[in-house]
Amino acid sequence: MNQWTDIHSHILPSVDDGSVNLLQTRNMLKIAHQEGIIHIIATPHYGVGCLNPDIQELQNKLELVREEAKKIDSDFQIDLGNELYYSEDIIEHLKKKKALTMAGTRYVLVEFPVFESYRNIRAGLHRLLISGYLPILAHTERYEALYQNPHRIEELIRLGVYIQMNITSILGGFTNKRSKYCKKLMGYGYIHFVATDSHSDHNREPRMIKGVKYLRKKYGVELVDLLLVKNTSQLLSNKYIYDEEEGGVYAKQ
Ligand SMILES: [Fe+2]
Repeated sequence: MNQWTDIHSHILPSVDDGSVNLLQTRNMLKIAHQEGIIHIIATPHYGVGCLNPDIQELQNKLELVREEAKKIDSDFQIDLGNELYYSEDIIEHLKKKKALTMAGTRYVLVEFPVFESYRNIRAGLHRLLISGYLPILAHTERYEALYQNPHRIEELIRLGVYIQMNITSILGGFTNKRSKYCKKLMGYGYIHFVATDSHSDHNREPRMIKGVKYLRKKYGVELVDLLLVKNTSQLLSNKYIYDEEEGGVYAKQ
C-alpha cells in the first residue's frame, strides 16, 4: 500500500473550478485512495480581487471532506491550503490570514500567468521568501519563460524556491515537447514535488500510479519516495527540504 501525499488538489466541493459537489469530491477521494494517496492538501484558488470563498466556508467544507475521507480509510488525511495567484498584494492577504499557507506551515503554493516574464516570476518569488514564506512554484512546466531557458529554474532553487510539477505532465511520447521538457527537469534534479492538480473525477482526476511507474522505472524507487513521502513530510512538519550542510538531498546530483 502506497502512502503518498498530494500537495496540489482542487478537491473541495464547489469553491473554485475543481470539484462541483460533494458527490464528485467523494469520487475523487476514492480514486486518490486507490492511486496510493493517503494525505491531500486541498488547494483552492485564491487571487487578490477575485471572488474568494471566505475562510470559514473553506473550513466547513474541509470538515465535510475529512468526514468523507475517514469513511474510506481512517488514516486518510486532508489539510487545507490555497493555490495563490501571485500579485504584490498577496503577501498582505497572507499576513492577514485571508489567504492560506499550506496546512498552516510557512510553505505557500503559488502560480503566475503562463506568459509572465522571468523577471517578474523571480521577483515575486523573492518577495515571498523575504517575507518569511517558502514558495512552491505550482506546475512549473507551464511557464514559457522557464521553458525557454530551463536553467533559470536552478536560479530559483538557489534563491530558496521549491518546484512542483504535475505528475501527468511527464507522461507522453517522444514527440510530446512538454513531457520531454518535464523529463529534462526531472533529470536535472530540479523537481521537489509531483502532485495531481486534480480538478474532477472524470477529467484531470487525482491519478498518481501511471506517473509514479514511469518515475520508478526511469529514475528509481528512491526518487519517488523522496518526492511523494520525504519532501511532503518535511513540508507538513514545516521544515526545509534539504539541509545545506549536507550538500542538499536532491538539487544537482
Ligand atoms: Fe491548481
